[in-house]
Amino acid sequence: MSIPSSVVEQIKSSADIVEVVGWYLNLKKSGVNYWACCPFHNEKSPSFSVSASKQLYKCFGCGESGNAVGFVMKQDGKTYPEALRFLAEKYRISIPENTVDDPLQLQADAQRESMLILLQYAQKYFSEVLFNDSEGLSIAMPYFKERGFLAATIQEFGLGYAKDEWQGLQNEALQKHYSLELLEKTGLVIKKEQKTYDRFRGRVIFPIYNLSGRVVAFGARALKKDEKPKYLNSPETEVYSKSKVLYGLFQAKNHIRKQNNCYLTEGYTDVISLWQAGIKNAVASAGTSLTEEHVQLIKRFSENVTLLFDGDAAGIRASLRGVDMLLEQGLNVFAVVLPEGEDPDSYIRKHGATAIQDQLKQSVTNFIKFKTNTLLQDSENDPLKRADALKSIIYSISRITDPIKRAVFCKETAASFEIDEPIIVAECNKILLKERKDFVEKQKNTVVESEPNLSSEPSDALDVAQTHTQNNTNDSESLMVQLLLKYGHLIQKDTPIFAYILEECEGVELSNPVFNKIVMLYKSFIENGESPKPSLFLQHEDQAIAKVAATLLFSYNMGEKWKLKNNVTDNPEHDIYLEDFIYKSLVLLKMRYYQKQETDHLQELKQQTDPNEVRFHLMIHQEIKKQIAHLASLYGNVMY
Ligand code: CTP
Ligand code: MN
Repeated sequence: MSIPSSVVEQIKSSADIVEVVGWYLNLKKSGVNYWACCPFHNEKSPSFSVSASKQLYKCFGCGESGNAVGFVMKQDGKTYPEALRFLAEKYRISIPENTVDDPLQLQADAQRESMLILLQYAQKYFSEVLFNDSEGLSIAMPYFKERGFLAATIQEFGLGYAKDEWQGLQNEALQKHYSLELLEKTGLVIKKEQKTYDRFRGRVIFPIYNLSGRVVAFGARALKKDEKPKYLNSPETEVYSKSKVLYGLFQAKNHIRKQNNCYLTEGYTDVISLWQAGIKNAVASAGTSLTEEHVQLIKRFSENVTLLFDGDAAGIRASLRGVDMLLEQGLNVFAVVLPEGEDPDSYIRKHGATAIQDQLKQSVTNFIKFKTNTLLQDSENDPLKRADALKSIIYSISRITDPIKRAVFCKETAASFEIDEPIIVAECNKILLKERKDFVEKQKNTVVESEPNLSSEPSDALDVAQTHTQNNTNDSESLMVQLLLKYGHLIQKDTPIFAYILEECEGVELSNPVFNKIVMLYKSFIENGESPKPSLFLQHEDQAIAKVAATLLFSYNMGEKWKLKNNVTDNPEHDIYLEDFIYKSLVLLKMRYYQKQETDHLQELKQQTDPNEVRFHLMIHQEIKKQIAHLASLYGNVMY
C-alpha cells in the first residue's frame, strides 16, 4: 500500500534530522552543526556532521550524506516506505490506509500481525521457561552452560526452552486467548487426527528474527546426542520463508555495516559463539543453501562477504559451486578455513575468542585464490583434473561483475597455473560473449525490420537528450554510443569503424543501463553477421532503446558541447578526421572511466586494515594506474 504524497511531505517536514540522528548517535554541537563519529565507517574522531538548517547529514570521512529518511534507511537497513512508516509512527502522523483498495489485503495484513504477536508471545514463554521453570533450569540451562553460552548472550538472541510436554505452550497460549487456529498457522502446534500437540518438545529454542527484529520462526535443537532430527524448525508460513531470512542478521546488521564485512556461517550456534567472541558481524542461512534473496539482504549492509569453511575437504568442494552466485551479485568474496572437523562454534570452545579473532585475520584469502589453492592441491599430478580445475576457476572469475577485478584475477590465476594470461582472458571472454549472445537471442525477436524515417524527429527525443547530457560523467558515455550508432557501420581502411570503437572500449562499463543495452545489442548484431544499422535501434521494441537511439542519432549538439570542453576538434563528414576524432574521443572516455575507478578504489583502500586486503587493493590500484598512464601516453601521441 503506497503512502499518499501529501503524507510523505508531512513526514519529511516533521522529522527533524538533528532529533532523528540523535536517537542513534551522541551528537555534540560545535559551531552551527552537530557532530558525531560516523556510524557508516570506523573512525575515532568525529567527521559526521548534521546540519539543522539544511536538514542534511554528511560524513566528511566516507562521503555518506542524505536527509532524515535516508539516514533511517541506511542506519536500519529499511526500505524507503519502511523508513517513512517508522518516522510516521515516531511523529504520530497517521497514514490513511485505503480500505476500499483491497479488503483481502487488509485481512491478510491483520492476520500476519496476529501471527507475529503470537510468535513474540511464544518466544517470551520459551525464555521464561528457560530462566524460571524447574525443567528449564535443570535441563536446558546446564546445556547452554556446557556450550559456554553466557546469560547476556542467551538474552541477546532470545534463546529459550520448550518443555517435554505435549501441550505445554498450547495450554498457556489458549489461556491467554490466542486461538488454536493461529497456533497452527504459525506452526507452533500440529494437528493430527483431531489431536493437537506442540511442535517443539524437550528442545532448546533459537528464535529467528526478521530484519526489523520481529520473531518469525524458531529453530529447536534436541538435547541428546543421537536424537533425530538434531534441529527441528518452524515450517514455512505467511510470515516466514527460510529463503528470505538470515539467522542473526537483525543482531549483526549494524556491525556488518561498520566492519564492512559479513561472515557467513552454517549454524545458529556458530553465529552465537562468534558474537560472544566479539565477532558480531556473522549470520547463517537457517538450514538451507544461500539464495539470491539472502544475498540481496546482505548487500544492504556490505558488499564484502567472508565464508567460514570447515577444513573438511569434501565439504569445501561441495560448497564451492554456490559461491559463484555471490560473485554474480557483485559481492567481494573471501574465505577462511578452520581446522578439519571444526565449525566456528567448536573452534571457539576449544581455542577461545582470541584464537578465532587471529585465525579470521590471518587466514583470510580472496575466494578466487582460495579456490585456486584448493583445486590445485587436488589435481597435483593429474593434468585432466587440472584442466577442469582451471575451467571452474575461470568460470568463477567470469561471474565477477567488475571488469578491473576480473583482469586482476585473470593475471593471478595465470601465475598460479603457470599459463599465459591472454589464454585465461580469452576463455573468460568466451563465457561472457556466449551469455551476451544468448541474452540477445532472446531480445532479437523484438526487433522490427524496416528502414528508419530519418526526416521526422520524435517529439520527446530532446527530453531524453537533455536528461543524458545534464550529467557530466554521462557525456563521454553518450558520445561513445553516439559514435557507435552513427558511424559504427561505416568502413574505414577496409575495417568497419565499430571494430575500432568496440575494441577500444572493451572492459569499460557504462553507468547508464540503456547505453549498456544498446552496446550489447550492437555486439550481437555483429556476432550474427548483421549490419548494425541505425534502423534496428530506432525501431526497437524496447522504448528506452528506441528513444535514446533517436536522440543520439539526430542530435549533433551533445557531442559538440563535449568536444568544445575537451578541446577536441573534428569534422565528422571528412573521413581523415573522423578516425582521429573517434580515436581521441575513445581514449578520453576510457581515461575518465579509469580515473573514476582510481578515486573509488583509493577510497576503498583507505578503509582496509587487513594486510591481505590492502595487498589486493594495491594490486588493483596499480593495474588502474598503469591503464591511466598508458591512455595518457596514447592521448599525448594523437595531440597535434
Ligand atoms: N539444520 C537444520 N536441521 C537439521 C540439521 C541442521 O535446520 N536437522 C541447520 C541448522 O540451522 C543448523 C545448521 O543447519 O544450525 C548447521 O547444522 P549442523 O552443523 O549439523 O549443526 P550446528 O549448527 O553445528 O549445531 P550444533 O553445534 O548444536 O551441533
Ligand atoms: Mn556446531
